Amino acid sequence: MDPRLASIERQLGPVRRILAVTGGKGGIGKSSVASVLSLLLAGAGLRTGLLDLDLTAPSDHVILGLDGPCPTEEFGLEPPVAHGIRFMTIGHFLGDEPAPLRGADVSNALIELLAVTHWQALDVLVIDMPPGLGDASLDVVRLVRRAEYLVVAGSSRVVLETVRRMLRLLTELRVPIAGVLENMARGRSDAVEHLARQFAVPFLGAVPFDVSLEDAHGDVGRIERTAMAAALQQLVGRLFPRHSA
Ligand SMILES: Nc1ncnc2c1ncn2[C@@H]1O[C@H](COP(=O)(O)OP(=O)(O)OP(=O)(O)O)[C@@H](O)[C@H]1O
Ligand SMILES: [Mg+2]
Repeated sequence: MDPRLASIERQLGPVRRILAVTGGKGGIGKSSVASVLSLLLAGAGLRTGLLDLDLTAPSDHVILGLDGPCPTEEFGLEPPVAHGIRFMTIGHFLGDEPAPLRGADVSNALIELLAVTHWQALDVLVIDMPPGLGDASLDVVRLVRRAEYLVVAGSSRVVLETVRRMLRLLTELRVPIAGVLENMARGRSDAVEHLARQFAVPFLGAVPFDVSLEDAHGDVGRIERTAMAAALQQLVGRLFPRHSA
């Protein structure tokens, strides 16, 4: 057996809740939701970590404007803390270089990152999941046993079809589903809510399409004033009732 698997259990041991932000479709807003939610959770006084597991296109550091210090070594790699969030990403090590990973390299990189990151005590670790339903996502399901999945969805038919597949997969894998969140909502549609009901999982509300989000990237003060942050603040209250602002 790979000794790093025991190391993953040990590193995640002091983490109370693990929220894995996923979604069937690329570009649906997983990174935005994971990053802004982490910011709000930390703002609500929760000891918060954020792990960007998109190995080929990490982006949480761009959204949160984090180009600060690299991890330091003590009992593994200590994630740097920025805006109250302990933050780990492959971006710390890549700089501007691409990460052309394939096959077993993807699993190895994921296992390595999970096994070496020393989170210490956290109330919540938010994981920005790799896109899609491929090897990388399945590896996280296998390696991070206690994760609850927050599924980001949209009301377009193309997105709904993929999210349905994602929900079916998560159900078959018998992993806990925290609920389904609609993102980039334009006007009223109950399609995502309906989908959540079909799978008997909570509908976590709708984040409106927010034109100001793009310009706010890199500036957490502005991000906190976006409509996305306002909508996600409700979600913080729902997921952590005793810590809502
Ligand atoms: N509610 C929203 N309103 C407006 N724009 C949004 C919203 N949510 C996300 N976006 C924008 O959509 C784009 C894709 O979002 P994001 O990178 O978070 O998606 P993703 O699911 O992580 O993508 P990938 O699958 O490539 O990792 C970004 O430019 C982001 O700013
Ligand atoms: Mg992303």
